[in-house]
Amino acid sequence: TTLNHPLPWCICKSSDCMEFANVIVEKDNSVAVLTLNRPQQLNALSYDLVKDLSLAMQELDRDDGVRVMIVTGGEKVFAAGADIKEMAERGPFDARIQERLAYRDRINHIAKPVIAAVSGFALGGGCELAMSCDIIIASETARFGQPEVNLGIIPGSGGTQRLTRTLGKYRAMEMVLAGETMSAADAERLGLVNHVVPVEVLLDEAKNLAKKIAAKPILAVKAAKEAVLRSANTALDEGLEFERKSFYLLFASEDRQEGMRAFLEKRKPDFKGR
Ligand code: HXC
Repeated sequence: TTLNHPLPWCICKSSDCMEFANVIVEKDNSVAVLTLNRPQQLNALSYDLVKDLSLAMQELDRDDGVRVMIVTGGEKVFAAGADIKEMAERGPFDARIQERLAYRDRINHIAKPVIAAVSGFALGGGCELAMSCDIIIASETARFGQPEVNLGIIPGSGGTQRLTRTLGKYRAMEMVLAGETMSAADAERLGLVNHVVPVEVLLDEAKNLAKKIAAKPILAVKAAKEAVLRSANTALDEGLEFERKSFYLLFASEDRQEGMRAFLEKRKPDFKGR
């Protein structure tokens, strides 16, 4: 139970308690906001932070009360990348590095929509985290970059792949080889972010979009997310086949019947998530 719990944001419901020292989880009806919380280190993605974020997102993915997640770092900084202090002490076959990457990978498999609300630096692992989300809303102060090359490494959580798929080869090469950062305006122009808004309204804008999505029938939303993500891993024919199968599958849902009936009866649908 949450009784006597020392952490007001803890989302535990049972003895299987989860406390997050590095991530603040707040629920606003069906929207959960996860705020990276290592401000002194510019939200550097330490092992513990990545583990907290990953476990929190998985828990929220299972929570029927939650439909959309927002990941943010607050107004000053999204995340300045993997924790360099921590990485400096590690060897290539260190189990903790492997484990960290495994926790990180789970974030790529969240079924519910995830919106990144990015303000300030989103560098290295921070840029990669934003790109792992489904939609990116940025403040005017956001700066994106993959500066790993300056440390003698390369992006390790998808930067070389997701940037290339988003920006194309030449822009991605410049970012990854020169390690230079990109403004929010350029990121918007090049399709790396959905919208750029003033920092004061960043979270509200993200929440408004989240609420819009949260009001949709969740089975269709999850199927749509899965199908869009599938496009990165499949040839067109295979992707179309996957889409077609999910399309048929949704005909079995109660929400599909309700949605179509409500349209024909000219009333608002009452979706049940089934
Ligand atoms: C650990 C970090 C950090 C990081 C900042 N800090 N980034 N600590 N890991 N990635 C710490 C600083 O050491 C400092 O701590 C405090 O945060 C404030 O940072 P400053 O540098 O003083 O701030 P500022 O001058 O404003 O510069 C901001 C900055 C710079 C431009 C973002 O901090 C920076 O370049 N950070 C590193 C960015 C980076 O290289 N990211 C990629 C990491 S590799 P103290 O204790 O001195 O106050 C990566 C690989 C991903 O992400 C692959 C995943 C597997």
